[in-house]
Amino acid sequence: MQILCQVMLVFDIHCHILPCVDDGSGSLIDSVEMAELAIRSGTVGIIATPHCNMPGAFENFWSADFDAKIKELNGALLNRNIPIMVYPGQEIFAYGNIVERIKNNELITLNNSKYILVEFDFSVSEREMLKYLRMIMAEGYVPIVAHPERYFLFGEAPETVRDIRSVGALVQVNSSSITGNFGYYPERVASYFLENQLADFVASDAHSQYSRTPDLFSVHEMICENYSYEYADLLLDGNPLNVINNKEIR
Ligand SMILES: [Fe+2]
Repeated sequence: MQILCQVMLVFDIHCHILPCVDDGSGSLIDSVEMAELAIRSGTVGIIATPHCNMPGAFENFWSADFDAKIKELNGALLNRNIPIMVYPGQEIFAYGNIVERIKNNELITLNNSKYILVEFDFSVSEREMLKYLRMIMAEGYVPIVAHPERYFLFGEAPETVRDIRSVGALVQVNSSSITGNFGYYPERVASYFLENQLADFVASDAHSQYSRTPDLFSVHEMICENYSYEYADLLLDGNPLNVINNKEIR
């Protein structure tokens, strides 16, 4: 295979690598194997983003247990000479007053920055989403909408994503959508976002080492080949690193 991107440094802001907390990694060994895959694809930093604030499914309100799990995972990676740093975060389901819950330390932002990774019900309306995003913005946080290409709203009208960007929200596209693993509609919508430079991040949203993995090598190459190296670098390195460092996104 021709190597299209000579220099590749990747930061993954959406990954279910924390063991035994949601439908992602099922054990510490699984998490280590996910990290081994990630490092081979050029990833050097991962924000662990377990599902949370999801009534009846994954509530996962933040506690010392999560800090301990991240510390344990980073220790295991260090022991195995896997040079990846795992940072704290959550994929917050849009339900109730999440800003209030962040202020109460029940939920956390991405690496304790101003950036919130927020996911919506797949059937969310544009009106409901905009209301939620404005509420987050009004409190000084910056919402990053997780995988909008998978929501029915954008499947029917991909251009609607301009409305959520116009209020200041950022857009994170899943690598599996770009590679076609989620089927025709998410792939088509993801292509529309990339063609029109309406995406700010590409992340793995990985759940295991077997399917929906943290391997971002192929998607990095696809973006280099179909769009540009600069855009691939922005989506997988520049913007994610700015989130980790709590800096502004271009
Ligand atoms: Fe996710």
